[in-house]
Amino acid sequence: MNIFSGSASKELAKKIAKSLGLKLSPVEIFVFPDGEKRIRIKENVLDKDCVIVQSASIPPDENYMELFIMIDALKRSGAKSIKAVIPYLGYQRQDHIFRDGEAVSLEVIAEILTKVGMTELFSFDLHSPKIPDIFSVPVHHLSALPIFAEKIRKEFDLKDIVLVSPDMGGIRRIKMISEMLGNIPFAAIEKNRDLSTGEITDDGLNGDVKGKIAIIVDDMISTGQTMVEAAELLIEEGASRVFVFATHAVFAKDAGKLLQHSRIERVVVSDTIDVPAYNQFPKLEVLSISETAATALKN
Ligand code: R5P
Repeated sequence: MNIFSGSASKELAKKIAKSLGLKLSPVEIFVFPDGEKRIRIKENVLDKDCVIVQSASIPPDENYMELFIMIDALKRSGAKSIKAVIPYLGYQRQDHIFRDGEAVSLEVIAEILTKVGMTELFSFDLHSPKIPDIFSVPVHHLSALPIFAEKIRKEFDLKDIVLVSPDMGGIRRIKMISEMLGNIPFAAIEKNRDLSTGEITDDGLNGDVKGKIAIIVDDMISTGQTMVEAAELLIEEGASRVFVFATHAVFAKDAGKLLQHSRIERVVVSDTIDVPAYNQFPKLEVLSISETAATALKN
């Protein structure tokens, strides 16, 4: 197996390669003055199984374009199979039409990936369990939740905590982690987002957090607004402390600053997205999903 990294996921790709007992295979990514890229695979991949690790993190369009071209380069070099590890699948929140006139952007991404030659997809904590159906190739839907559950079990007394979903859409996820921890109690916030402005309002809490340590679990943190507002509400509702666990550290705009200066005590994320130095902050802790990805690639 040959494993390649796109520019967005070098740290994670190195860790996955190490777990597989491999080194990253060389690829030349040359950027022209106008921003276009020229990709050249610098290893013989004829009839080989190839893996590319590339998250569709910020800037998503640029990282996707690089991935499309890398897949094409591998296909033209005669690779037998091309497995794309896209730990954070960008555009996944646009998996259906919310309002008339909209595109289904994730379908566009899926069509391009398969058209250029991706033969399998590996991704983490997809926003909806229906997303794999959009793809015409096998999709391995992996999760950081078992790693989060293990961390929670180690660091907290389970009888002191309540798990919280920051929106009703996250109930399935919160039930899963609750089961992993022996069916511990959970609550959910009724969050509404204005589709034109992106503004968030909450309509209250379903469940009881009084005197408990609230642990919010979500698939991603983008601007951080959801988490910060959820933490405020939980403290108002009597939670003693608030912690956050989220798989994808998208960290748009000033998310880091917002989270650091919030009521949240610690923000635990996974490394599905390499967190650059400028997005790191003292309350942040990153757990690696590299072993999970490596195990899935081996099977
Ligand atoms: C929404 O449904 C997602 O699960 C996240 O809660 C959301 O994308 C987080 O966005 P932000 O950090 O910008 O509030």
